[in-house]
Amino acid sequence: MVEKPFGHDLASARELSGRLHEVFDESDVYRIDHYLGKETVQNILAFRFGNGIFEPLWNRRYVNHVQITGAESIGVEDRAAYYQEAGALDDMIQNHLLQVMATIAMEPSASFRANSVRDERSKLLRSIRVMTPQEIRGNTVPGQYGPASIGGKQMPGFRQEKGVDPESQTNTYAAVTFFVENWRWAGVPFYVRTGKRLPKRVTEIAIQFNPAPLAIFDEDDGDRSPNLLIVRIQPDEGISLKFLSKRPGSGMNLRPVSMDFNYGSSFGERSPSAYETLLLDAIIGDATLYTRQDMVEASWNVVEPIQNEWRSAKFDFPNYPAGAWGPAAADEMLTRRGHTWRRP
Ligand code: BG6
Repeated sequence: MVEKPFGHDLASARELSGRLHEVFDESDVYRIDHYLGKETVQNILAFRFGNGIFEPLWNRRYVNHVQITGAESIGVEDRAAYYQEAGALDDMIQNHLLQVMATIAMEPSASFRANSVRDERSKLLRSIRVMTPQEIRGNTVPGQYGPASIGGKQMPGFRQEKGVDPESQTNTYAAVTFFVENWRWAGVPFYVRTGKRLPKRVTEIAIQFNPAPLAIFDEDDGDRSPNLLIVRIQPDEGISLKFLSKRPGSGMNLRPVSMDFNYGSSFGERSPSAYETLLLDAIIGDATLYTRQDMVEASWNVVEPIQNEWRSAKFDFPNYPAGAWGPAAADEMLTRRGHTWRRP
């Protein structure tokens, strides 16, 4: 069993894998990406492929765009040595959030056998557009937190954290617009963001659907909140569907309401932690939730050009204060396409 980071770029990931394969067959290597072991990430497969009503909507005809947020309120803690080298893009997007995206966007697998599921995840990762340097400039935003005073408490910036270079160019925030180049998703932006020292810890996927084709309610005062499906990975695990409903009273005024599923109230039992699930799976030889080498390479293939582009630039960091939702440029990245980040 090996846990991430699986290399720090494509070449080192291949080298690591080559070393492992000197001793073990690929089928005997269990690479942990603990996000895949989270109950809520596994539930995406149950939700999509255990039900008949969602899959017909799960494509470019009905989905306007997808937002994947992996926000953390903690800073770099005592991991400066590792984190300074990795940064948010490598630490969270290359692995966890791309795996989440693959789970949301993959094709149905023919069975629930390990390689069947992993083939589909892998295929999806290989369908993500590898961006040119020019596309990277328009579709990615790096950030680094600066000092701030929150509720009277002074928070250090990343460059003031213990063990961090005072001129560090490390990204503690990363936002990327990905495109999946297949028939299901062509043209649908997948906005992925992650960061340290954001206002709260929340990981969620928000799928925004296209609006109704025609507004027929004359008296409606114009609330056009889109239909949203929100998959809450953590905390407050659950799924919500937001839709418009008639407000009681005369006239046809519409208001957004929410249909909610909560793990806590529906099942009332403790979910196993990601590591409990993954360790047990390895013991019984079930690799469904483990990352395969081709998936690791496909992710690096997408991330490495961004990493190269960011490394060759000099950013005016810090560009967001601790406790804020990232740099303004990340908002502008969405505004350019007529979208806005959800405030989870
Ligand atoms: C780890 C990263 O893989 O995932 C950390 O190295 C991050 O930087 C952590 O904090 C997040 O995991 P979770 O399960 O707390 O969302």
